[in-house]
Amino acid sequence: MTSQPAAPLLSSSHLLGIEGLSPAEIIALLDLAQTYVVQGRSGDKKTGLLNGRTLINLFFEASTRTQSSFELAGKRLGADVLNMSVKTSSVSKGETLIDTATTLNAMRPDLLVVRHQDAGAAELLSRKVDCCVINAGDGAHEHPTQALLDALTIRRRLGRFEGLVVAICGDVLHSRVARSNLRLLSMMGARVRLVAPRTLLPAQADRFGVEIFTDMKTGLAGADIVMMLRLQLERMSGAFVPSVREYFRFYGLDRQKLAWAKPGALVMHPGPMNRGVEIASDIADDVEVSLISEQVEMGVAIRMAVLDALSRTFPREGRNT
Ligand code: NCD
Repeated sequence: MTSQPAAPLLSSSHLLGIEGLSPAEIIALLDLAQTYVVQGRSGDKKTGLLNGRTLINLFFEASTRTQSSFELAGKRLGADVLNMSVKTSSVSKGETLIDTATTLNAMRPDLLVVRHQDAGAAELLSRKVDCCVINAGDGAHEHPTQALLDALTIRRRLGRFEGLVVAICGDVLHSRVARSNLRLLSMMGARVRLVAPRTLLPAQADRFGVEIFTDMKTGLAGADIVMMLRLQLERMSGAFVPSVREYFRFYGLDRQKLAWAKPGALVMHPGPMNRGVEIASDIADDVEVSLISEQVEMGVAIRMAVLDALSRTFPREGRNT
């Protein structure tokens, strides 16, 4: 192992969104993650790159995949990892976040991974602490590592983004995954479509610069990738869909609807899935078409790459105050 510091990959010491990354930075992260896929499949999954460093996972919202993969990624790079699961409190959200951030900052972490129900929370936090902040999902705003892991999964299977038709289907309104993915995929030259009932499309959807469809048949026609989104019932205060059964009938991905996409089209879902609501079980579990397990594997590799890349922005001797 060389003691030379690795060349910087990112211009920022935080990862707050896909917005703010350049295509070259995205490619560099995907290339680096690919080396971690290989390492993750080998017998020795661990390196000492982050030895002596501390990573704190600060999750104000529930998470299985994202939190555990950041934990594994940190541990595989040799960092000490602390998981803080913060239950939503009745105190004003802003105060809670800033108080918690100040407390954690005093423990001198090097990397802080944050998930919060409010858009802009990670950015706010990055201005209050003096370590690297990674956005693991802020409200319906961004979830950059999800879009990066989806991109890695697509690139490994199809070898490119340019010209691919990607249909992002379902609850776009509440989805940070949709927003980060449409930014990344459009930037890399894919043709992104949003397919959803009117009630689940954001008011400003036509300003995203992507094609919009309200029915699955035309929305899926010719799609290389069908990316399904979870119906985020916990974020819905009123009735956005008549009933879950109706929703599945018109927007749930089953064999019949998948046949409208390009022959050989691949299916993705960020998880957690509502089986029988936005996706039929037999499609989710069909390894010939479903990339869902691969997405989870790529999640660890991408998070290792992000931690590695951000660690190159650490001050050489640590903080001195
Ligand atoms: C997503 C999220 O939390 O935004 N899940 C994830 O990170 N894998 C999508 C969702 O919750 O539906």
